[in-house]
Amino acid sequence: MSLAYRLLYRVGFTPWEQLEALPTLTATVSALLAREEEGHGPPYGPALDLGCGSGIWAVRLAERGWQVTGVDFVPKALRRARERARRAGVDLRLVEGDVTKLRATAVGSGFPFLLDFGVFHDELTDGQRAAMGREVSAVAASGATLLMVAWARRRRGPLPRGASLGDIAAAYPDWTVIDEQPFDISGAPFFRHIKNADLRFYRLRRE
Ligand SMILES: C[S@@+](CC[C@H](N)C(=O)[O-])C[C@H]1O[C@@H](n2cnc3c(N)ncnc32)[C@H](O)[C@@H]1O
Repeated sequence: MSLAYRLLYRVGFTPWEQLEALPTLTATVSALLAREEEGHGPPYGPALDLGCGSGIWAVRLAERGWQVTGVDFVPKALRRARERARRAGVDLRLVEGDVTKLRATAVGSGFPFLLDFGVFHDELTDGQRAAMGREVSAVAASGATLLMVAWARRRRGPLPRGASLGDIAAAYPDWTVIDEQPFDISGAPFFRHIKNADLRFYRLRRE
């Protein structure tokens, strides 16, 4: 997996980054983050961006007033995230590490808010998904919220493996899905022609 992503970043084939150019998607993300921030003023506290990639959403979180740690296992992605943060004039703490082994990295713990924008639903095996759930639970605060962006389970074509509610529940037994919102992805050039693209935002609360 790491090799595949290293290659994708090396050749510059990162279609998920096109999502940032979709105004409806950024508006949806903004609204979802505003919901987490409701009733508080910045700084909102620590946030962990799991598989932060080139830092698109980590930077947005930091711009809103979160103290963001981003973790990813591809050094080039982290270099790009560092450069993106520099251009935006925000601080990001960036850690090279594997989301299935978070406790072995220097990410820290006690995060009240965590973001998974496109990692869990990808090609992790069931065992790796369970490990991710276990590790995320270990570094999350009690009562934490996890915002997960995932495709529904793949039926065919080049989409990631996808995740069902059952898959999420199996990997996150101590968490409850408290909200699920479908999102129409057809406006993004790369995804326009993909049939059955079914992107969803899940909000999970740790018990
Ligand atoms: C689809 S990309 C999304 C990147 C970023 N969240 C975004 O939306 O722009 C998935 C990211 O997760 C990272 N990733 C996948 N599996 C990982 C793992 N086991 N540990 C750490 N990072 C991982 C990849 O390197 C990649 O940057």
